Amino acid sequence: MNWCEACAIAFSLVAGNAFASDSIPASLTGAKGDPARGRAIVANRQVGLCLLCHSGPFPEERFQGNLAPDLMNAARLTEGQIRQRIVDSGKVNPQSIMPAYYKSEGLARVAPAYRGKTVLTAEQIEDIVAYLLTLK
Ligand code: HEC
Repeated sequence: MNWCEACAIAFSLVAGNAFASDSIPASLTGAKGDPARGRAIVANRQVGLCLLCHSGPFPEERFQGNLAPDLMNAARLTEGQIRQRIVDSGKVNPQSIMPAYYKSEGLARVAPAYRGKTVLTAEQIEDIVAYLLTLK
């Protein structure tokens, strides 16, 4: 490989990562999610656990988290940026404490029963994305 080829590969890796890591523009299921189901997942303490860290427009839920921005802030993000942050926010911020909800590779200390599985399904991710987009 000559210098030019090496340089082109390095550039495409850097450029590719820069774009791929901030946004996942396409739906994971190929379809739009259901905002009402998405709201239920976000508010549910057994499924999404989002309110452990986040607060949001859920007057019925007491004790919302303050470790993360209010989910109303997500309205400033594009659909693809919201999807990326729920799928794997470590791609946006490597120090993020937010769980990667749709990642099954490269995780540490996963109990055997959960290995190779994602926290949420692709449908659930799309429902959440659809719900957060209604906050715009
Ligand atoms: C363990 C804590 C934690 C949990 C649980 C969590 N998040 Fe987060 N989330 C964060 C933090 C902290 C950030 C701020 C950015 C960062 O540090 O990655 C964040 C950022 C975000 C953002 C981007 C917000 C912005 O204004 O930039 C979205 C959207 C989001 N989270 C959605 C969710 C959803 C939906 C769930 C549940 C399915 C969830 N989060 C669960 C900690 C959490």
